[in-house]
Amino acid sequence: MNTPYYKYDMELLERTLQAIKDETAKYGFTEHYAIKANANPTILKKIASYGFGADCVSGGEVLAAVKAGFNPDKIVFAGVGKADWEIETAIDNNIFCFNVESLPEADVINQIARAKGKRVNVEIRVNPNVDAHTHAKITTGLNENKFGINLPLLPSVIEHIKNLNNLNLIGLHFHIGSQITDLTVFDNLCNTVLGLLADLKAQGITFTNINFGGGLGVDYQNPDVTPIPPFKEYFAVFSNYTKGLKGVSIHFELGRAVVAQCGTLVSKVLYVKEGESKKFVILDAGFTDLIRPAMYDAYHKIENITSKEPAKKYDVVGPICESSDVFGKDRMLNATHRGDIIEIRTAGAYGEVMASQYNLRKLPEAVFANNTL
Ligand code: LLP
Repeated sequence: MNTPYYKYDMELLERTLQAIKDETAKYGFTEHYAIKANANPTILKKIASYGFGADCVSGGEVLAAVKAGFNPDKIVFAGVGKADWEIETAIDNNIFCFNVESLPEADVINQIARAKGKRVNVEIRVNPNVDAHTHAKITTGLNENKFGINLPLLPSVIEHIKNLNNLNLIGLHFHIGSQITDLTVFDNLCNTVLGLLADLKAQGITFTNINFGGGLGVDYQNPDVTPIPPFKEYFAVFSNYTKGLKGVSIHFELGRAVVAQCGTLVSKVLYVKEGESKKFVILDAGFTDLIRPAMYDAYHKIENITSKEPAKKYDVVGPICESSDVFGKDRMLNATHRGDIIEIRTAGAYGEVMASQYNLRKLPEAVFANNTL
């Protein structure tokens, strides 16, 4: 196998999926997988085989979900800019529901559904103005973000959608951000949602579906200590708040927490370069293979799995002609030489799926360890 490539531990993925199933089963919650985190067909098939639903944000993802075996009855479709063909594709595939993010979008879905002689389920994506305390570029639930309907506008949007004959308004959808490690953020979300539901109920408006989105973070610092995210604690928060809601089905759409830890980017050292003030380890992987450090200043653990020599300090960089092509600065790695294999950990989410061919590079391939499917 030529480096760089992604290596997926399918046994860890299975244990992660089972851990989620165990917790959601306790409370009767429905879990969807956010396909955007990793859409590799082998990964999708495995997740579908555990009975997960799918959360899609494009027509391409809807098609990939159906192809991988996700039940259309459990496919939801979100996103601020759904093109007409994407809406048609979703309706033709009889997905469970659209998460609608604006009034004009609701009107277009209604028109397309009417033309097809169908009535489709929608949830309104609400922007609850709850701070996710995460990186600004992956925060979605603040008033200043482009996502969802702001709270003050919600009653009029509900009124409008209820008058659209080809839409069936079944619920509300929330997603406030990603890589959330402080679980009290989810308490804040629940408090806001429950307050909102009580206000709406007082106005005679009730729903059968609430979707709390995704966002649970993973341990990028210590992947071997926390290979499986704290699902027990996470779902317990929601159970505390929602157990009083009768006749409401509760949905989640986790992405990162499902796949991050099972993926590793495997790369080879091309050169070790001694600068005046720094030593650089130059890899054959670049930000075209894993863009998270360049794009979000994200930390990924980096290990030299070849060398056993005492550690030295390096900047670990890629070959791309951009100064931002850096995987980590001042990292301690076992003394490193040309040809050593370097692993970049916790790369299963938003890694392979965000790869590009900038500089006309090849896309990374994938290998699967312990795959039983
Ligand atoms: N639902 C919706 C509507 C979303 O927008 C997202 C992620 C998810 C669910 C899944 O969130 P998760 O459980 O993965 O946090 N590329 C960035 C992350 C972008 C997240 C976008 N939306 C990164 O590499 O950190």
